Amino acid sequence: MDHFSFLQNYTLLAGALALFLALYYISLIPKTTKHKTVPEASGAWPILGHFKLFRGSSDLPHRALAAMATKYGPMFTVRLGIHRVLVVHSWQIAKEIFTTHDVVISQRPKYLASKILGYNYGMFAFAPYGTYWREMRRIISFELLSSHRLEQLKHVRVRELDNSIKNLYEIWRKRKAEHRNVMVEMKKWFGEFNMNVILQMVAGKRYSGATNTEEENEMKRSREVMRDFFHLLGVFVAADALPFLGWLDLGGHEKAMKRVAREIDSMVGRWLGEHRSKRNLEEDVEKKDFMDVMISAVDKEGLAEYDSDTIIKSTSLILIASGADTISVMLTWTLSLLLNNPDSLKTTQEELDNVVGRDRQTYVAYYSHYACSNVADD
Ligand code: HEM
Repeated sequence: MDHFSFLQNYTLLAGALALFLALYYISLIPKTTKHKTVPEASGAWPILGHFKLFRGSSDLPHRALAAMATKYGPMFTVRLGIHRVLVVHSWQIAKEIFTTHDVVISQRPKYLASKILGYNYGMFAFAPYGTYWREMRRIISFELLSSHRLEQLKHVRVRELDNSIKNLYEIWRKRKAEHRNVMVEMKKWFGEFNMNVILQMVAGKRYSGATNTEEENEMKRSREVMRDFFHLLGVFVAADALPFLGWLDLGGHEKAMKRVAREIDSMVGRWLGEHRSKRNLEEDVEKKDFMDVMISAVDKEGLAEYDSDTIIKSTSLILIASGADTISVMLTWTLSLLLNNPDSLKTTQEELDNVVGRDRQTYVAYYSHYACSNVADD
């Protein structure tokens, strides 16, 4: 180690130690604030807080938190390093927070992932509450996720479901001839179906089901970089809880994030380039995906905070990331719970038979039925 880096590290270490001590003393001050009504779970360490919930706890974090709720009630706080985190264990309170008090929770914490992978907070879901966030929310609600736009892209969902069920049927047909059982990992099946739908709706791309080697190679590269991107978006970074440890890059997450940010930006940048060059040729409204729509909307609006390409790339990525695990986990759980509760499975089957019948696709018929009932109820 040369003299300069030794001094630099020494200064950082001394700074970290000073901060450590300051925080320790702050944590010893009795908490007598008048307005403090939400209890803090016991067992926090002075600086690390309830760190052990997420590292080293024998239970999964959500189970450990659920067990704490039995002790502290539906609302309590835990400390993750320097951050105090509110845990809500009641759907009624969660509903109230996301409706009546939504402005209070609209602010977003600044995480390393939202800076490096989220285009320096340009990715809408990580952007601080303000004009940019409101404008982006408006564009996403009215231009991309409107019922009109989703109806226009319905053919993607119908075609994908059709293909996925045909593939499943083909596997069964082949194995049946060999008198073999068919084992299907539904988590993977839902995951691929869902990613194919999302990628086509957002950027006209596919996740699996290539028809030639070149396509397969491209999909393989995309799958790898998206897998790393999703993983790093959710990974627990020590420096987010204890920012003074940032310089150590424990676990090498920062370095990995920088590499993945470059790779994913290059991938989605290529998609955007293709969309911009075919833009003037594309007349068929049914073929317009979210990226096409965003090019028109963002170029027209001219949002000041970030350039158009950054907004389109980051919004495409956050829609893909938000729609990936949420939907496939929800579908996997729904199926698992139904299979484990025969009475509910029977009621669901009867309802589907009555409402949809056996000769129509459930997805479209059921959706239309309930969309109509909801309109009628309003
Ligand atoms: C079962 C499915 C889903 C669940 C349970 C779910 C749940 C949530 C929750 C709890 C939030 C945080 C809200 C907040 O902090 O204000 C959120 C935000 C978000 N979700 Fe979902 N979501 C689901 C599906 C989707 C899908 C399919 C998409 C996109 C196609 C999506 C896009 C987003 C976006 C962009 C945000 C950030 C919104 C913001 O910053 O205000 N979500 N979601």
